[in-house]
Amino acid sequence: MKITFSEISMPRSGPLVVTVTSGSTLLATAKSVDKKTDGALTAAIAASRFEGKSGQTLTVMAPKGIGASRVLLLGLGDGGKLDALGAQAAGGAVVANLAMSGEKLVNIAVDNVPDSKLNLSEVAANLAFGVALRSYRFDHYFTKKKPEEKPSLAQAKVMCRNATVAKKIYTPLDKIADGIFETRNLVSEPANIIYPETLANQAKELTKVGVKVEVLNRARMEKLGMGALLAVAQGSAREPRLVIMRWDGAPKSSKRKPVALVGKGVTFDSGGISLKPSAGMEDMKWDMGGAGVVIGTMKALAGRKAKANVVGVVGLVENMPSGTAQRPGDVVTSASGQTIEVLNTDAEGRLVLADALWYTQQRFKPEIMVNLATLTGAIIVSLGSEHAGLFSNNDELAERLAGAGTAEGEKLWRLPLTDGYDKLIKSNIADMQNIGYAREAGSITAAQFLQRFVNKVPWAHLDIAGVTWSGKDKATVPKGGTGFGVRLLNRLIADHYEKK
Ligand code: BES
Ligand code: MN
Ligand code: ZN
Repeated sequence: MKITFSEISMPRSGPLVVTVTSGSTLLATAKSVDKKTDGALTAAIAASRFEGKSGQTLTVMAPKGIGASRVLLLGLGDGGKLDALGAQAAGGAVVANLAMSGEKLVNIAVDNVPDSKLNLSEVAANLAFGVALRSYRFDHYFTKKKPEEKPSLAQAKVMCRNATVAKKIYTPLDKIADGIFETRNLVSEPANIIYPETLANQAKELTKVGVKVEVLNRARMEKLGMGALLAVAQGSAREPRLVIMRWDGAPKSSKRKPVALVGKGVTFDSGGISLKPSAGMEDMKWDMGGAGVVIGTMKALAGRKAKANVVGVVGLVENMPSGTAQRPGDVVTSASGQTIEVLNTDAEGRLVLADALWYTQQRFKPEIMVNLATLTGAIIVSLGSEHAGLFSNNDELAERLAGAGTAEGEKLWRLPLTDGYDKLIKSNIADMQNIGYAREAGSITAAQFLQRFVNKVPWAHLDIAGVTWSGKDKATVPKGGTGFGVRLLNRLIADHYEKK
């Protein structure tokens, strides 16, 4: 979607969006259009259930008195309650309404919203952000669609007073959208296209925006003793990779330790010898979602030239059953030296992260370390797709993450880590086993396992299994890969680890 900003003018053709707050209060442009059309808008409202609620829309086709092909009344809800997320949702509603309409360009008139916490330019920029986010599509494998079956909307002209200010606020948001789209693309691609080597190549593309990228192959990882990660990879014909990305955006003088982001990148999780049932197994193409978020976040940070030092590390493997695959009962030695009894080869994400986390804290001594992983089905049972699971050894970091999530509409819910839960992964033969007893507290035992590989670093684990993929359209997230995590991490860094 191409997005431009300009001062308000009446379009001579095409759709015009005007804003309305709760109680069907017409804002400035809506009022003037109502006058020019001899009350067509108020008449349409009277004949409908439209009240100006947040995200509500009402279309008035070809009203006499103006050039626009249609007027779309866009509800913003209560003016006093309108925040950034609300403005974004409104932008999303415009796209949902017009994407397939046959219209190519939409004119959106953004007027001052009385009582809003946001100023006019912020409303306009966030509405534009919502337009961008909702317009994402992953459609390059369709070869037979007719033009009328494809979305038509390709451009949004956001009109408001002081358009240059709105545009300036929008500039970094556009880079964040780029990062989110990168993540959505990566999780949407099937596993025959995205596997460790090709995913590493995608990460390497970030060198174009100034990220330094290193790729470790199997031999390098063997030297580093990464027996846990390599055990997962050994059943696959695809070679594993460990990718290290660095964005050094802080002023040289700041000498601040980096923020480390670590992602689970299982490009396909069949379960291995502990094979998954076939129904729904296709979903396991997005088991590299954590890695996708780390790559997308690095892209967003570099794109907006964040004044922060951030390292992103992703462990990339494919989990397959074969004659070379690891067996239930195998004991492997991780890079930390700790041994692991692999009781279930489908609990593979934690094996990958064990070595990636250990390596990251040893090499970079980060200020904080946050890992993301589609780690457990159990987190979907506990939290569904409303919240991602948050686990941390540090209250301040946990609060910062939860706050960033709330602000960005990527909500987190904290679960406990305690010695009692840690006992559940004691093994009879090795330092630990990779699953708990029975199926109790499955997400927590997974997190306890990870915690054994983070040393003393302030660390948090986000279990994103329930939020990485969406079965239905949401205000600013079309169904499919969500990119959940990019906005949250970007905000965490912007608010707490970036020199302003
Ligand atoms: N990748 C899965 C978790 C998952 C499940 C992600 C559904 C997204 C949707 C993970 O590797 C896994 O298989 N976990 C097992 C752990 C169990 C064997 C202890 C699970 O959750 O069943
Ligand atoms: Mn698994
Ligand atoms: Zn997995």
